[in-house]
Amino acid sequence: MKHLISPMDLSVDEINEILDLAKRIKENPEKYAHVCDGKKIATLFYEPSTRTRLSFETAMLDLGGKVIGFSSADSSSAAKGESVADTIRVISCFADICAIRHPKEGAPKVATLYSDIPVINAGDGGHNHPTQTLTDLLTIKMLKDDLNNLTIGLCGDLKFGRTVHSLINAMVRYKNTKFILISPNELKIPDYLRKEVLEANNIEFTETDELETYMPQLDILYMTRVQRERFFNEEDYVRLKDSFILDEKKMQYARKDMFVLHPLPRVNEISVDVDNDPRAVYFKQVQFGVYARMALIMKLLDIKEPS
Ligand code: CP
Repeated sequence: MKHLISPMDLSVDEINEILDLAKRIKENPEKYAHVCDGKKIATLFYEPSTRTRLSFETAMLDLGGKVIGFSSADSSSAAKGESVADTIRVISCFADICAIRHPKEGAPKVATLYSDIPVINAGDGGHNHPTQTLTDLLTIKMLKDDLNNLTIGLCGDLKFGRTVHSLINAMVRYKNTKFILISPNELKIPDYLRKEVLEANNIEFTETDELETYMPQLDILYMTRVQRERFFNEEDYVRLKDSFILDEKKMQYARKDMFVLHPLPRVNEISVDVDNDPRAVYFKQVQFGVYARMALIMKLLDIKEPS
């Protein structure tokens, strides 16, 4: 049995297989509409979500399967003190696969130790969010046609942003990736990513607090929210939350073939006047997330492609 806890759990070949399957599903969804008949996914969300939970549920429903789950710790027996280990043993009796989001780093990994079914990390604290990464990779591949030779600007909260950490881990495995890491000093990427991932793989990267200067170099601009829920005090959050605001004026510095991605939710960091720019693809990205998760569910359940 296979789980997905980090993007590193998948080889580049496996990632590419999932992206290719997702593309085939997008082109011909009817063909896949019953491949998961009789299967169930459990979505165990101990932390708020709109996209990830509903995207998993949509993915399973669109494959012909069914959905169970809870959308907050308060509405589960976690509120009575039940451990993740016990919860996953119980869920293994009900479902064929599960997606788990938890505020504590490592909680989905703990679940794998007690689970009889595949466990997908749907976001653990500030650590990883591998299915957002599959979504991001699919979006980039569909729009740029290639995941090699890209200069990617990552902007905003690079310290706590699990989507950023997962995307860096995935993209360093493609050829000639360059990163421009744009953040306030306090929200730079964690040391382990700089040393053990970027430097260890000889990846070219620049750390800066300037967005406009680097805009003309970018193939992809990945904007992120400064996450109030990860700060220890409100004062720091208020000081840093509006460090970068992408607007149409700043978009004028970007190339015509640059695309703006954002895992969402957005707060202030992208002005709504950017939404109508054809290079703003963050809502398309949400749709790609459903196809990526459909493909992942099929892979983890070892569902054969229908003939
Ligand atoms: N991108 C993402 O994880 O969004 P949600 O928090 O709404 O699931």
